[in-house]
Amino acid sequence: MDYKRHLVTAALPYANGPVHIGHLAGCYLPADIYVRYQRAQKRDVKFICGSDEHGVPITIRAMREGVTPQDVVDKYNTIIKDSFAGMGISFDIYSRTSNKIHQETSQAFFKKLYDDGAFEERESEQYYDAEKDVFLADRYIIGTCPNCANPNAYGDQCEKCGSTLSPEQLIEPRSALSNSPLVKKATTHWYFPLNKYEDFLKEWIVEGKKDEWKSNVYGQCKSWLDSGLQPRAMTRDSSWGVPVPLPGAKGKVLYVWFDAPIGYISATKELTAQWSDYWCKEDTKLVHFIGKDNIVFHCIIFPAMLKAHGGFVLPENVPANEFLNIEGEKVSTSRNWAVWVDEYIKDFPDQQDALRYVLCANAPESKDNDFTWKDFQDRVNNELSAVLGNFENRAFVLMHKLCKGRVPALHADEINDMDKALMADIRDAKTKVENAIESYKFREGLAEVIDLARKGNKYLQDNAPWSLAKTPELQEANQKRIDICMHLCLQLTANLAILLNPFLPFTAGKMCKKMKVVERMLEWENAGRIDLLKVNYPLLPPELLFRKIEDEEVATQVQKLQDNLKKATQAIVENSTAAAVKAEQETPLAAPKATITFDDFAKIDLRVGTILKAEKVEKADKLLKLEVDMGTEVRTIVSGIAMHFSPEEIIGKQVSVVANLAPRKMRGIESNGMILMAQNADGKLIFVSPLATADNGSEVK
Ligand code: 2FM
Ligand code: ZN
Repeated sequence: MDYKRHLVTAALPYANGPVHIGHLAGCYLPADIYVRYQRAQKRDVKFICGSDEHGVPITIRAMREGVTPQDVVDKYNTIIKDSFAGMGISFDIYSRTSNKIHQETSQAFFKKLYDDGAFEERESEQYYDAEKDVFLADRYIIGTCPNCANPNAYGDQCEKCGSTLSPEQLIEPRSALSNSPLVKKATTHWYFPLNKYEDFLKEWIVEGKKDEWKSNVYGQCKSWLDSGLQPRAMTRDSSWGVPVPLPGAKGKVLYVWFDAPIGYISATKELTAQWSDYWCKEDTKLVHFIGKDNIVFHCIIFPAMLKAHGGFVLPENVPANEFLNIEGEKVSTSRNWAVWVDEYIKDFPDQQDALRYVLCANAPESKDNDFTWKDFQDRVNNELSAVLGNFENRAFVLMHKLCKGRVPALHADEINDMDKALMADIRDAKTKVENAIESYKFREGLAEVIDLARKGNKYLQDNAPWSLAKTPELQEANQKRIDICMHLCLQLTANLAILLNPFLPFTAGKMCKKMKVVERMLEWENAGRIDLLKVNYPLLPPELLFRKIEDEEVATQVQKLQDNLKKATQAIVENSTAAAVKAEQETPLAAPKATITFDDFAKIDLRVGTILKAEKVEKADKLLKLEVDMGTEVRTIVSGIAMHFSPEEIIGKQVSVVANLAPRKMRGIESNGMILMAQNADGKLIFVSPLATADNGSEVK
């Protein structure tokens, strides 16, 4: 199909916290690369995003911070918007689902489906927290996952095995607000009969998208369709959200996954009076960039809604990425295990492209990937700086030294095979990068650009123009050869700027300045050309494009992660009210951690001790205060095991203790050490004890 317009959306992030680099790598950076490329192709493209300001995550955060949901969304909308702008994510609009236009658009959408009889009204028994007097949204319900036995699965999803759930499927559901068992109470809601759209979806996806969509996306859709779709409630009992536009629906709002994707439409309306061209004309190419947890909503539910409404285009592609882990562990917002974009921008001002580079080069395109600060340093220093930066810098230095700071002539009649090969490489790179971006393989596209720079370095090395100019006489004799070589290196530099521009726009901009060319040169059609810089044109002096990342910076960031984790974990232990937080903290069978050296391990002073006394800590359900005989002294240790053991049953037990952990206060009691425990998949704790009695104070090694 010959598309006239491109409509690109990036998932609307929940305004319940800042964005982290996993968000960037999974969704926003690939979307931005794609859009910048389309713009460079001079295609008509609109890039849509905004804050998702409804739904339970917002209310959970408000509860956690002791403020109103409105305060939460106002605060995080600003932080998120600034983070994206700071990283050069070039939305045409960043809207908010709390805007009036969105309320009107989503209500009108709902009303149309309602008037067309697309919903089924059903009274059902829903989980109700009698202690708090509220119906509980799925996220507020915690119980055991029927698929993997995770005891802390949510009512909408199990974060351990990734399966999508309904609260009814949970075993022994309980309230995340009060931790009490739940009762059922009758309430009325409007259900969207997804089952009626199965045939349409099968034909559209299973038959139409098999070879086009990424296999992770297609696979998830197929298994949803194979297992059969169920009607899904599109309204909720809540005071936070878009009110259901029907008489008698007081206290009911649109389900956040009903209103959020409509947010793409309302944001486009806010952006342009021509919005309907983008949403309703068949020759629009609609692409949704999302993370893998959003697949079902964008590939099944939203398309079925659009189909039911009628008059809208469907997504041509939904190139969802997998997740980015941090230093070997899954990102966890409640444990503060994440690299936050706003903090990165503060810690590394003017290093946006370094992060864009690493996140793209290591993007989780087909499987979960790991971000480590060491890898960040290696990639920036050894690839970005040593290959690309180095080539560009050498080209400038040599041109100033050997060609009087001006673009030398090509002497076309004297070019040799090596020159011709480089010219062919420049031409081919355009096609390769283009094909990669068009098929959403951004890693591959970026690797091609670096590869071209690598070829430039090799060409320079093979020609060694400096050795042709060892003496003034030699230089005079070789000037033509030197000119050809430097001419091609400079044209290659200009080409690199064009090819890099979608990926590293800050760098491409800097390169243009140094070459004294206007940014129009970056238009895609110019790629592959070797006449971009005019002969005799003076260029600015050399200046490094990238700086190296130092060891201390890496160490500081790794330490920051650990400190954040420690603070967050401490807060969780001390404040045992938020069961939702607790649920995540206690997710069993944590991912393996990064390798450490023996010296790292040897820093831990592990000792055997015997528990002499144990008592409950007042107003802390989870804590026991222990007196532990460590051989040479008796230590007070506060341990978060009260939900698992009574004080009586552990007295006399020999345990392993981390003896040199810095003291910390919990509930006003200073704890001097930590008891080691193993945790079973069902959450049960077991002491890590010597098999035979050991002397108290003896070392564990
Ligand atoms: O997962 C999320 O962060 C959701 N807020 C994404 C919504 S995407 C769209 F539908 F708005
Ligand atoms: Zn599970």
